[in-house]
Amino acid sequence: MSAASRDRRISTKDISARSADDPIVALTAYTMPMAKLLDPHCDLILVGDSLGMVVYGLDSTLGVTLDMMIAHGQAVMRGASRACVVVDMPFGSYQESREIAFRNAARIMAETGCAAVKLEGGVEMAETVAFLVARGIPVLGHVGLKPQSVHSHGGFRVQGRDEAMAEAIRRDAEAIAAAGAFAVVLEGTVEPLARAIAADLAAPVIGIGATPAAQGQILVSEDILGLYGEFTPKFVKRYADLGAAAAEAIAAYAREVRAHQFPAPEHCFGVVPAKASAKVKTLRNTTAPAKAPAKSPR
Ligand code: KIV
Repeated sequence: MSAASRDRRISTKDISARSADDPIVALTAYTMPMAKLLDPHCDLILVGDSLGMVVYGLDSTLGVTLDMMIAHGQAVMRGASRACVVVDMPFGSYQESREIAFRNAARIMAETGCAAVKLEGGVEMAETVAFLVARGIPVLGHVGLKPQSVHSHGGFRVQGRDEAMAEAIRRDAEAIAAAGAFAVVLEGTVEPLARAIAADLAAPVIGIGATPAAQGQILVSEDILGLYGEFTPKFVKRYADLGAAAAEAIAAYAREVRAHQFPAPEHCFGVVPAKASAKVKTLRNTTAPAKAPAKSPR
């Protein structure tokens, strides 16, 4: 079922049932306006902890807090009525124990209204995933390159280059799927390994820097739109350069303010441009009585 033909919100069960013949389209959003743009086109919207880097300018995702994720999760939920919205559990909010993971995941679900949480980890997190799933919290797994483990990985490095590491990633994906994750994000993993995992795993694989053979694909929206220029991974395809368009618009605004060209009469209240004055009968601050309750000037 494509995003456009949905008449109800897509669920985690719908995502679980998808195959590579009907790929899962997923992108990240951190705000209401971005969620509104994505919602008609995406099956899954992830409120990723990548917001720490993309929105807050941090060097990694490690400084992201539960309160930040909840605030952005609420904003995204206000803009998305059809896509399945998943909120990332930030570093330190789930690794300590399955009970703490449940408490924090429950807070995310209750305070945002999202459909599921995502957490990073493989074999070592399988028990926690099973604990959450058994208690009504759908979980999206995340294996391969795990940005919250950037220091253990020795940087944002492609994973699975040697046989031992490849085997470990395969075991991680299998453990998380067996624990009941409704799908598994597979990030930054060599293609043949990613392809093999996607072919064999019981849950759908949503790839990012993984393989075209995955059951779905996810990218960071700001990366594909050219709105985040700090670092662009090889696996990103840039579909637009909105950063350049925004820079031009901002420069034009600055020029016009300095040249006293903005604001023009039509942007001011109580000053009716000469041509329009005949047509315009009621401005809120003229003497004409207001018919409707005053709206915000926006
Ligand atoms: O935090 C994030 O945005 C993610 C995706 C890139 C998968 O984990």
